[in-house]
Amino acid sequence: MTPVFSARKKTLYGWKNGGKNFAVFCSGQGTNLQAIIDAVKNNRIKANLALVVCDNPKSRAITRSRRAGIETVLVGHGREDMEFEIQRHLERKNIRFIALAGFMRILSDKFVGKFKNRILNIHPALLPSFKGARAINDALRYGVKVTGCTVHFVTEEIDGGPIILQESCPVNDGDSAASILARVHKLEHKLYPRAINLIAEGKLKIAGRKVFIK
Ligand code: GRF
Repeated sequence: MTPVFSARKKTLYGWKNGGKNFAVFCSGQGTNLQAIIDAVKNNRIKANLALVVCDNPKSRAITRSRRAGIETVLVGHGREDMEFEIQRHLERKNIRFIALAGFMRILSDKFVGKFKNRILNIHPALLPSFKGARAINDALRYGVKVTGCTVHFVTEEIDGGPIILQESCPVNDGDSAASILARVHKLEHKLYPRAINLIAEGKLKIAGRKVFIK
């Protein structure tokens, strides 16, 4: 399905209510995945988490998704093969959008292009500060007094897509990377389900770099 702006309704996505299947991609602890699973269960996300894609056989995310009865696929190997395999699963499950939740692979421009405006990511810093895989350590080392998390659309530029939601928290004297991570995680577990529900309900509108919530 190609995402389209409908001139009349000004909605970004071609789907109607219902039948909104989405996938979560992860590699690690899966605490965000768990928050998403819980939010779907409680109807805070009005869409169907139909698939979990994981690239790490040791990931706790696998246990979480299987426990919740969600189809979970383990993918691996070279990027091209992996993306081909992922696409097959996405098509098979009629996936409309994707939430990256600690997925430690960089998706190719081709893949991102195919799912333009349909891939979200959560990043543990206030973008555009501290892009990259070591955001929390970088923020701590830099000496910021405030940090937080960002949900954004994924584009070809890593951690550079239009921002959907952000939330901040303080950095206190004596904080460690672990204590900041715990604080940021608390924010993420609320913010990500909210953002996912916004896309699920077709409430996001993108104009250039800006995202508007209807
Ligand atoms: C989160 O902190 C997220 O911001 C980053 O990766 C981490 C994933 O944590 N992209 P978890 O696997 O959801 O616990």
